[in-house]
This record gives sequence, structure tokens and C-alpha cells, in this order.
Amino acid sequence: MTANPAAAAPARTSIHTRDLNLWYGGFQALKQITVDVKQGLITGLIGPSGCGKTTLLRCFNRINERYGNVTTKGEITILGRNIYDAGVSLSELRKTVGMVFQRPNPLPISIFENVLFGIRIHTPRRSLPKSRRRELAESALREVGLWDDVKDRLHHKATTLTLEQQQKLCIARLLPLKPRIILMDEPCSALDAEGTEKIEDLLDGLREKYTVVIVTHNMAQARRATDECIFMLMGELIEHGSTEQIFFNPRREQTEMYIEGRYG
Ligand SMILES: Nc1ncnc2c1ncn2[C@@H]1O[C@H](COP(=O)(O)OP(=O)(O)O)[C@@H](O)[C@H]1O
Ligand SMILES: [Mg+2]
Repeated sequence: MTANPAAAAPARTSIHTRDLNLWYGGFQALKQITVDVKQGLITGLIGPSGCGKTTLLRCFNRINERYGNVTTKGEITILGRNIYDAGVSLSELRKTVGMVFQRPNPLPISIFENVLFGIRIHTPRRSLPKSRRRELAESALREVGLWDDVKDRLHHKATTLTLEQQQKLCIARLLPLKPRIILMDEPCSALDAEGTEKIEDLLDGLREKYTVVIVTHNMAQARRATDECIFMLMGELIEHGSTEQIFFNPRREQTEMYIEGRYG
């Protein structure tokens, strides 16, 4: 018996998939993916280009369905709920599971309006008085470390910000919707080393409050910024473990070869 039973309790699962398969037309991009992503951790999705990282990530908020000719089979449960249930609202799902893309994509409107854009769509205007809007924007911008940079130019166009600031803004605009999970697809690929470091610092602050799943092809970033990693190859999940285990003691030969940079 351990002295502290809570310490021995298994981490809670945030995203669970079972035998998940996905086809683009006749091409199978995901094969029998069964995985548990733990709540409050930062999980990295790694593997060579084309192995299915983006596809798997896009399953978690069902945006693959926007692309024609996609067939999905298997189970995905998010926070205890099957996301393919008939009663699931896609707009609720996408509030709970926010997404950040490779290139920052702020709207060509002000910084302030960008942060509030999502919540405006989801909330009747009258229930969001001006003072509340201001509060929400400030708190989201503070959470991503952007407030001090932009507080004096909230009404400037978001497209005047640096790429790193734009990416922070794209994270900030998810927050008023109170997401539980944040999906990031190579969020630093358009940034320089300094911008990348700043986004990694931001990530560190999201841990525990949110479950983060981040696709990265940058092994140093995966090692520095994640708690667990999922290694994929040709649509299959090869290995999932703590980042330390994956990098220093991989169980599978393919993982070891990838980590050592021997392919992909
Ligand atoms: N919309 C699509 N239509 C057809 N094939 C696709 C589509 N998106 C991705 N694929 C294919 O699925 C495989 C996995 O792609 P992807 O998930 O983007 O990989 P990764 O993010 O690991 O580079 C690749 O072979 C890719 O060419
Ligand atoms: Mg990708």
C-alpha cells in the first residue's frame, strides 16, 4: 500500500480512441489506433512526414470531415463522451477542443476582435456587456503572455503583429470559449528560434489547466516541451510513453531509429 492513495491513482484520460481507422478515398491513413491521452499533460505526436499526425489530430475535433471522401471507423471518446454520438453538437465539440494551425491565421480585424471572435459567434450579443468583453480579452491575452505587448494597441489589426505574436493570439482566441483540450499542429513551424522558445514557454503554462496535443517534427522541441509522446509510422501507432522513456529507452526499434534521425 502506498501512503498516499491519490498518488497511485491512474491519470485521468482526456482523449480515448479504440481501433480508430481512417481512409481518404481508398487510401488508409490511420490504422487501428488505440490510445489514451492523459488529462492535463502535453502530449507530442511525432513521426516522419506523411505518417498521419495531422490526420489523427484532426479526428479529435472532427474537422477531417470537412475534407471530402473521408471514412472513419472506430471509437473516439473525449472527456467521457463518444464524439460520434448523434447528440453531439459539432460547435460544442469545437469549443471544447480548440485547434491551432501551422501558420498563424488571425482574421484581418483588430487584436481585440480576434480574441472575442469565437465567443461572439457562440454567445448572444446582449449577454456579453462591454466590460465583460474587455475582461475576457485581457484575461486571454494575459494567459498567453501577450497582454503587455498589445494592451496599448488592442484596436490595431492583428496582421500587424509578428508571427510569434500572431500565433499567441491564435491560442488566446480559443480561451474565452473555455476549451478543455487544445490541439496544435506544428505551431512553431513558421517561427524563428526565439519565437519557438516563447511559444514553448507559453505551452508550459497551459499544462494542467488544459490537455494539449502537439504535432511536432522538431525532436528537440518534443523532448523539451512534452510530458508524453506518441510515435507514429505509416498510419500506425508504434509507441506511446513518457517523453523520457520514448527518447532514452524506446521499446521499439522503429522508435529508436526515428529518434536517432535514421529516417524521416
Ligand atoms: N485530404 C487528404 N486527401 C487525401 N490524402 C490525404 C489528405 N490529407 C492527408 N492525406 C494523406 O494521408 C497521409 C497522412 O497525412 P498527414 O496526416 O497529413 O501526415 P503528417 O501530418 O504526419 O505529415 C499522407 O499520405 C497524406 O498524403
Ligand atoms: Mg502534418
